[in-house]
Amino acid sequence: MRELRLPGGGGLPVLGQGTWGMGERRAHRADEVAALRHGLDLGLGLIDTAEMYGSGGAEEVVGAAIRGRRDEVFLVSKVYPHNASRRGAVEACERSLRRLGTDHLDLYLLHWRGSVPLEETLEAFDRLRADGKVRHFGVSNFDPGDMGELFASELGRQSATDQVLYNLTRRGVELDLLPWCREQRVPVMAYSPIEQGRLLGEPALRRVAERHGATPAQIAIAWVLAQEQVCAIPKAATGEHVEQNRAALEVELTAEDLADLDAAFPAPPQPVPLEVL
Ligand SMILES: NC(=O)c1ccc[n+]([C@@H]2O[C@H](COP(=O)([O-])OP(=O)(O)OC[C@H]3O[C@@H](n4cnc5c(N)ncnc54)[C@H](OP(=O)(O)O)[C@@H]3O)[C@@H](O)[C@H]2O)c1
Repeated sequence: MRELRLPGGGGLPVLGQGTWGMGERRAHRADEVAALRHGLDLGLGLIDTAEMYGSGGAEEVVGAAIRGRRDEVFLVSKVYPHNASRRGAVEACERSLRRLGTDHLDLYLLHWRGSVPLEETLEAFDRLRADGKVRHFGVSNFDPGDMGELFASELGRQSATDQVLYNLTRRGVELDLLPWCREQRVPVMAYSPIEQGRLLGEPALRRVAERHGATPAQIAIAWVLAQEQVCAIPKAATGEHVEQNRAALEVELTAEDLADLDAAFPAPPQPVPLEVL
């Protein structure tokens, strides 16, 4: 699979699997594990989770899915801002590793900015990296101002990504954050690439999908993947959705498709505050 270059070296797959909403109900657990494993079979090795999801339940689902297959996975998890202190982030990471059944994360993110000073979180991330518990660290839901503060320090400049809300209906980042990240060579991870399903009935999306014999979800994902230095992490809990999403990698949008989508889902005319879900 195509990869984006990470600032610290190595690659970030352009398409992965999200896990928000997993691990919340015991009755769904086997299906969720099966969906993630199916994704692995199809080469979707990037898995995004967080200590927040299902209060640790999503990490347990991921742990079950990757058992015996750790080397196929680029594993991402996130620390709650209120746990992101010098000591708290180290302890939170260790709890995540236990739930995930692994000794290291490929990428550890601050889930959103809280009140703990950034230097503290960065020190914890640096220590986790030195101890081999995380390979890369980064942030999520940081706006351009936050990124500027982050990049004011030597350690902050080693951040490997900003994971943000980005899809056809949430294009504000194109006006400020995305160009900034491209200039700094920081890959952007687009979360909710199909707007949690709300995008799927949009007529313009359906028209483009019909032209390709594809589904609206595939077009929404293909559009995100067509953006330079952006990867996408759609969440799917059924085998059919996983297969569709994987196949979105093969959809090549034409100039006409892109123009139609641009007309139906224009970026805002001026910068807007970073949107979050
Ligand atoms: N950093 C953050 O603050 C943050 C915030 C939100 C999300 N995230 C991450 O990003 C991931 C993705 O975002 P998301 O879960 O919010 O939304 P999403 O991926 O845009 O949408 C997920 C929803 O779309 C459905 N779906 C998936 N593939 C489909 C397909 N091919 N056809 C029709 N429906 C499909 C899923 O249904 P099924 O589950 O039934 O398959 C689910 O209901 C999350 O899971 C999480 O890992 C991060």
